[in-house]
Amino acid sequence: MHQAPTTPDVSIPRGHILVIGNEKGGSGKTTTSMHLIVALLRLGFKVGSMDIDARQRSLSRYIENRKNTMASENTSLPLPAHVVINRSPYLTTAEAEADERERFTRALARLLANCDFVVIDSPGSDTYLSRLAHSYADTVITPVNDSFVDLDVLASVDGISMKMLKPSIYSEMLWEQKMQRAKRDKGTIDWVVMRNRLSNIDARNKRMITKVMDELTRRLGCRLAPGFSERVIFRELFLLGLTVLDVVETNKAGTLSMSHLAARQEVRDLLKSLQIPEVDARIAHVRTGAKGDVLTDPRIAPAPKKSEQSVEASNASAAAAPTEEAATAETSPPTTAPTASASADTVAA
Ligand SMILES: Nc1ncnc2c1ncn2[C@@H]1O[C@H](COP(=O)(O)OP(=O)(O)OP(=O)(O)O)[C@@H](O)[C@H]1O
Ligand SMILES: [Mg+2]
Repeated sequence: MHQAPTTPDVSIPRGHILVIGNEKGGSGKTTTSMHLIVALLRLGFKVGSMDIDARQRSLSRYIENRKNTMASENTSLPLPAHVVINRSPYLTTAEAEADERERFTRALARLLANCDFVVIDSPGSDTYLSRLAHSYADTVITPVNDSFVDLDVLASVDGISMKMLKPSIYSEMLWEQKMQRAKRDKGTIDWVVMRNRLSNIDARNKRMITKVMDELTRRLGCRLAPGFSERVIFRELFLLGLTVLDVVETNKAGTLSMSHLAARQEVRDLLKSLQIPEVDARIAHVRTGAKGDVLTDPRIAPAPKKSEQSVEASNASAAAAPTEEAATAETSPPTTAPTASASADTVAA
């Protein structure tokens, strides 16, 4: 067996790294990842995406589905430069971790060399890759299903007083990764918790969870972002690889309902709650421009057809170089993300 490579814990020249994490399965990580990726692309940023949930590969399949829709509809949609990091085949923990660290940091550095943002979708379980990714985050977003069972991922809570008893293993892991990050480059991690699948039906449950969330965010040092409501639209677009921000660009996705529009607003509110100055500036720029709001305005003109794509591609400087992971057929090669002006050109008031 050949020697597993070892890499020192080096800092990486940085864009902004968003890690979507929650050790509980099915909390909305992949859904949130995809919506953030598309929202950032539509704001004209160069976006890289990384799937470190190589077992499920849900984000990668989401992107594959998107490409299939583009082909079948003969339309163009913004795509991130995408990479999957596989689990290591090495048998010993030390070798496997060194190998995963090496491939993760190399892929991340390549994405960061070309992208303003890298969005990392992590698995619903504790893995070395997931811990490592968290330690490189500028922002960690933790979607939590709106139920007490799922709040458990943040902390144990006393059922009578509703006070926090102790932080969860995930919260402790994140604390540890904050230390790692500070040690590596003196950076900080902004931890944002968002409630997902909010329902209007159970007002009492909602109020109680709000109360507990207030306590937890105070005690755990995270912030609470407005979340996504329970909406069929978030579920049904996966197979088409679409998000609520894309729905007018293909024939398949149907017409825009009030629910679509409300969902778009939720994505926009989430973006704003991240308090990333470049994002706020871009949102303000797009809103005040004559062309409407790219994230919420339903009257978005179709993206250019394939025949026009080469022109857009040559205009855009955002094409990320393929990472080694992508080049070795782990998943899709990156394609062009629109520049600010290219993106704005797709918006018509
Ligand atoms: N706001 C929402 N409204 C309705 N359905 C949702 C919403 N968010 C997520 N879902 C659905 O919940 C399921 C789980 O979502 P998702 O795959 O995004 O979670 P995950 O945290 O990535 O799961 P895993 O831990 O398995 O990777 C999916 O069927 C998804 O479509
Ligand atoms: Mg997932």
